[in-house]
Amino acid sequence: MLLLSLLLAAIVAVQANSVEQVFKSHEVVPDVIPQAPNQFLEVSYSNGLKAKEGVELTPTQVKDQPKVEWTAAPSDYYTLIMTDPDAPSRAEPKFREFKHWVVVNIPGNDVSAGEALAEYVGSGPPKDTGLHRYVFLLYKQPGKLQFDEESVSNRSRRDRPKFSAAKFAEKYHLGNPVAGNFYQAEYDDYVHTLHSQLSES
Ligand SMILES: *[C@@H]1O[C@H](CO)[C@@H](O)[C@H](O)[C@H]1NC(C)=O
Repeated sequence: MLLLSLLLAAIVAVQANSVEQVFKSHEVVPDVIPQAPNQFLEVSYSNGLKAKEGVELTPTQVKDQPKVEWTAAPSDYYTLIMTDPDAPSRAEPKFREFKHWVVVNIPGNDVSAGEALAEYVGSGPPKDTGLHRYVFLLYKQPGKLQFDEESVSNRSRRDRPKFSAAKFAEKYHLGNPVAGNFYQAEYDDYVHTLHSQLSES
């Protein structure tokens, strides 16, 4: 029994370590958050592709809102953030970060029952700006909270540039993210469609 607990503890330690390694090797730590979460977040697109561990996906492949899954107590509330620190490019991130998706007051793990402060928009990395990192972060809230940001639709870029997930988390006392994951993407033809969608209002 003791041996089994030690073994389980070792497995958990190895997994936590690998999240940290992946976040550090792609410099998501420290570019986005000061400390890696303990767990990978499950993020899957309806085409079956997963946003994980820095895998490269195309803007076309991530155009629709993914399914995000985690284990939660139904009485807890969560905040989910997706952010791009590489706006307009990783080399010169002068608009760091571009806010892609923010859902707050998610009861348990039912994202659709949360409040979308920023509706999901997929990747729109400009031409010739290389790979961007798209980072998903899940925070456990201390309880149900009142947020003072205005909601942004998926047709607007209002308040999306110059976002900071870490500052947002600090403002609402969310602590470190409990889980996270990320993919990378560079320009493809779909970016044009997304940019026109974002200029509709
Ligand atoms: C934008 O969000 C609305 C829901 O508010 C959704 O019905 C629509 O499909 C979304 N559009 C795109 C292009 O993602």
